[in-house]
This record gives sequence, structure tokens and C-alpha cells, in this order.
Amino acid sequence: MSYPFQIRSLDEYRSVYEQSIKEPKTFWASVAAHFLWRKKWDKVLEWNFKQPDIQWFVNGKLNITENCIDRHLKDKGDQPAIIWEPNNPDEEKRVLTYNDLYFHVNRFANVLRNNGVKKGDRVCIYMGMVPELAIAILACARIGAIHSVIFGGFSAHSITDRLQDAKVEFVITCDGAYRGNKDIPLKNIIDDSLELCPFVKRVIVLERTRTPVSMIKGRDVWWADEIEKAEQNGNPELPAEEMDAGDTLFILYTSGSTGKPKGVVHTCAGYMVYTTYSFVNVFQYQPGDVFFCTADIGWITGHSYIVYGPLCAGATSLMFEGIPTWPDAGRFWDIIDKHKVNVFYTAPTAIRSLMAQGLPPLAGKDLSSLKVLGTVGEPINEEAWHWYDEHIGKKKCPIVDTWWQTETGGIMISNLAGITPAKAGYATLPLPGIQAMLVDEKGNEIHGNDVSGNLCIRFPWPSIIRTTYGDHERCRINYFATYPDLYFTGDGCLRDADGNYRITGRVDDVLNVSGHRIGTAEVENAINMHTGVIESAVVGYPHDLKGQGIYAYVIFDNTLHNHDLTRKDIAATVSRIIGPIAKPDKIQFVNGLPKTRSGKIMRRILRKIAEGETNNLGDTTTLLDPAVVIEIKEGKIN
Ligand code: PRX
Repeated sequence: MSYPFQIRSLDEYRSVYEQSIKEPKTFWASVAAHFLWRKKWDKVLEWNFKQPDIQWFVNGKLNITENCIDRHLKDKGDQPAIIWEPNNPDEEKRVLTYNDLYFHVNRFANVLRNNGVKKGDRVCIYMGMVPELAIAILACARIGAIHSVIFGGFSAHSITDRLQDAKVEFVITCDGAYRGNKDIPLKNIIDDSLELCPFVKRVIVLERTRTPVSMIKGRDVWWADEIEKAEQNGNPELPAEEMDAGDTLFILYTSGSTGKPKGVVHTCAGYMVYTTYSFVNVFQYQPGDVFFCTADIGWITGHSYIVYGPLCAGATSLMFEGIPTWPDAGRFWDIIDKHKVNVFYTAPTAIRSLMAQGLPPLAGKDLSSLKVLGTVGEPINEEAWHWYDEHIGKKKCPIVDTWWQTETGGIMISNLAGITPAKAGYATLPLPGIQAMLVDEKGNEIHGNDVSGNLCIRFPWPSIIRTTYGDHERCRINYFATYPDLYFTGDGCLRDADGNYRITGRVDDVLNVSGHRIGTAEVENAINMHTGVIESAVVGYPHDLKGQGIYAYVIFDNTLHNHDLTRKDIAATVSRIIGPIAKPDKIQFVNGLPKTRSGKIMRRILRKIAEGETNNLGDTTTLLDPAVVIEIKEGKIN
């Protein structure tokens, strides 16, 4: 057995699961014993979900990068830790062994220290998918700085919100990022975002695209110049910072049903233990396997399963800079062929869009290295599941459908590849330590099988969200107040006759567009910023490729001259305020919105109309003005 905590049979899963529920503390202590600690914990767990206050491995001391890098040097120093495939297939790949990673992370940790970054400082990282992004993340963790990675698709306005929320003084970025045939001007976007963030003291800029950028004296420095300075100082090897188990490792912003995105806080030890445990078990990773997760590191999937989980497990993690459809729709298959990828982990939306290209992009691609396939981020429809199984896995690779969230830190419900049974469209069974349950609207547990309800978790697991940065009450209200003493996921779910879970989608006002989480309130706020917009309501509707599309109902003032142009203007406004991923797919101008007498928008009705349902709209008698519904139905955008 390659990892002492790797489950190798269905019977073993059953017995480990049972033990993990009966004796969770003993169970997690036995897993945590396989990591490198500066000092062992005094207590495994202290918790209550009321406040919430959740502490795993109390008083344990460690540095996660010693687990990700240092402890592998002796046996795996020359093994690739990160294989980097560039956007342009004609550019050379890069391979960083564990020795290389150790060198680069230490050197950049020196750069951070030289630039005044201290333990506990927040560092925003806004970069493309280059190896230096992983190096920057790990260098922050090395010195105990808190990283807040922002996905390269977010706008300046979104970045400003995040910088202000976490009072960030340090930013790491690139001049630009290559994505397909586009060159995204990251530094320019950062410059715009910084206009309202005078507290940012230092911006470190990596050269990638050599796009012209402004470099402001006293604030902006080049990555390469700072490296050179570190070299001139002899690049001293400083010890990694000793961190408390409960110290914050990172903040990652995610959308909720209300207000601005919230900063989900993960801590050093629990996150480390759970991401590694789940990585090794779900994917059944074997030493030497090449693991390819196609997510962007700007999302939780990239944090947990490109960087921390695989590296803690001493794996080889493949990182891809580009997009699946450039230079052509065979790009993923080329990468699998070229690097002999063994485990491939992607999103249903990518599978659907590649499926839509038919089989020609697969011609001549040798995918025989594949052993395990995975999906994440949204429910996978059966058609896409079977296409993936047949044409990518050639019916010999188990598919793991992994359900989890930014807040859970790691995979919560999933089959274990080849060990526990898969079922198309189902995430199947909870991982050891995960006490999943369904509740009705009132919070009563729904027992038995062949039932559906709201998905909750009743006991903490090591990588559970600890707080929302700067606003603990928001964390409590969002996740721990809907149902007393339970963590509420926000997802609806059914459990089949065999106890398998199938996630049916969000039950709150959060959309899942191409696997990206977007709050309807956030999109509405952005639309409402457009001059002339009086009010708007945003709902999701089924979209063949994206899973969910964004449908916006907009009340505009009387002087609407050109509908199409105004639609484009509104989309541009949303793009500027949030980012292109939040642009509405459909915008319908309306004279009124269906509201109750108390002024609440009846989204249920809007959702049904957007979904194409015109007859069964439910009870509309409580509406202030039922006539608006008729008008909205007639004006529906197809
Ligand atoms: O609705 C669920 C959906 O994605 C949400 C979490 O989004 P985010 O925090 O951005 O994390 C995505 C990557 C972990 C969940 O509340 N979701 C995630 N995985 C699945 C899923 N829905 C169905 N099946 C999944 N495998």
C-alpha cells in the first residue's frame, strides 16, 4: 500500500467509514499522524456549531510547506512536483522537481520577506496559470502570510472589493496572462483596482506576456529584479515559519445569496490533512502517477487539488496555462497524450463543450495512460457522463463525481475510484468522517432511502470553513443558523435506494454557471449600476453547455431606444463590475416584476418563465399586480 491511509476495498471503506463516525477524533488523529508536525496537538478537536468555533489539532504546530515540499526531498527530490504545460503548444513545457520547488519557494519567500511581508499579512495573488503562481502561494505559506488568490477573470472592481475587505498591503501579479488567443492585461486591471486601494504598499510583477505596463515608483517592482536582489544577498535559507494549527492559511472569496462575495477562511492543519486524505483516497493516487486537474488555481479546486493536496501527497501535479479549445478542441487530449496523464479531473461544463465538438478532436490521441477520471463543480448530466466514460475513459476508467464546496475545503461526497461503486449523475457516498444528512424545510432529519431534502453535515471535518474574513457573524448566519447544530450546504439533494447521494443544485439564490458560483444579488447589483436601469431580477435557467445560464429581467426607464445595444451595454457593465463570467445570457426588458404585497420579488415565477414553463406558475393571487406575469410571459426571450 502506497499511503497508509489509502482505502483499498469496498469492505475497508465500510469499516473505515463506520469507525470514522463512531470515533472521529481517534480516526482523524490516526490520519494526522502521517504528517510532519513541529509539535503534536494537545487535543484533536474542540467545537461547537453555535458560534461556530471549530478547532482541529489544538496547539499543534507545523508549516504546510514542509509537508508539501521538505519532507519529500529525501526520497523524491528529483521527481516532478509540477509539470507545466503552456498555453501555446509550441512553447517549451516546464518541469519543477521537488528539489526545484524547494529552491524556488525559498527564494521567493526571501523576496516576500525583503519586501516587508510578515506572518499574518494578507497577500493578494492575481496571476495567470504559470508555475510562479504555485510558487507565490507556497512562499506565502512558508512565511505565514495569508494568501488571497483572485481568479484572473475577475474585474478591477471585484479586486478592489476583495483588497478592501481583507486590507491587503501586498499584491503579486503578472504583466499579462495568455488564455487561448487572448492576452489578458492583468497588471492594467490591478492598476485600475488600486485606485481605490491606497493602502497597497507593494506590487510584485512577473513578466509573462511582456505587455507594456506602468510601473509606479515606490510601489511596483519586477519579480525578476527582486529575485536578483535575493540572489545577491546570498538567498539565505531561512526556516519556514512555525504556524499554529488554527492559523489562517488562506482566504478565498466566493459568492453567496446576498451582498458581496465573502472571504472563506481555511486554516493550516485541518486543510492540509483533509485535502491530502481526500486526494489520495478519491483518486486512488499511486506514486508516480501524473495528476491533471484542469481547474484554475483561482478557485478552490485549484487550491486543493493542483497545489496543496497533490503536493502534500508527494504527487506529480500537471498545471495547464491555457483553455480546452485552443488552438483546437483537442487540447486536453493532446496534453493527456503528451504527458501520459494517469488521472484527469475536470468540470462537467468542459466535458459538455468538448462533447459538442464530436469525435474528430480525439482522432489519433493516445489516451491509454488514463486510469481515473473525475468531475467537479456542478451536477453532471448522464449524457455527458456516458460520453466521458466511453470516449475518454474507454470504459476502463472509474469516474469520480466529487461533490464539495469552497467552504468544505476538500471533496466531501464521492465514490473512491475503482473502490466504491460509481453511478452516473451521483456523487454517491460520503468520505470517511463526513456525516451527511438530509433535512426538510424545518430542519427535521429525513431518514431512510429514496428521499430528498436539503443537504447538511452534522459533525465537523478538518477542512471545514472557520470563518468569513472580518465578519464571523456572516459565517454563522450563512452556514450554521438555518438549521441548529448543522452545517447547511445550500444544496438540494436526493438519496437513492442504496444510499447514494445525488446533488440536485442550489436551493438558495446562488447560480452555478459553467461550474462557477455567482450570486443573483451580485449580478442584480451590477445590472442596477447601469444608467437607466430602475430594477432587475436575475434567475438561472438550464443551459446546454454552461449547466445554468443567467436570465435577467430588467426594468428600464422610459427612454430605451435600442434594445440590443442596451443589452450589450448592460452586459458590459456586469463585465466591468464583476467579470465576464457573470454576463447575463438573456436580458428581458419588463415594465414590472412580480412582487408580493410586501414588496418581495417572487423569483419562483421568474425562474419558471425563464425555464420555459408558462402554464404551471403556481399561485399568483398573492401578487400585487398579477398582470405583470402575463406581460413577462409574452416577452420571454428564447
Ligand atoms: O452546488 C454545488 C456545486 O457547486 C457548489 C460549490 O461551488 P464552489 O464553492 O464554487 O466549489 C466548486 C468546486 C468544489 C456546490 O454547493 N457542486 C460542486 N460539486 C458538485 C456540485 N454539484 C453537483 N455535483 C458535484 N459533483
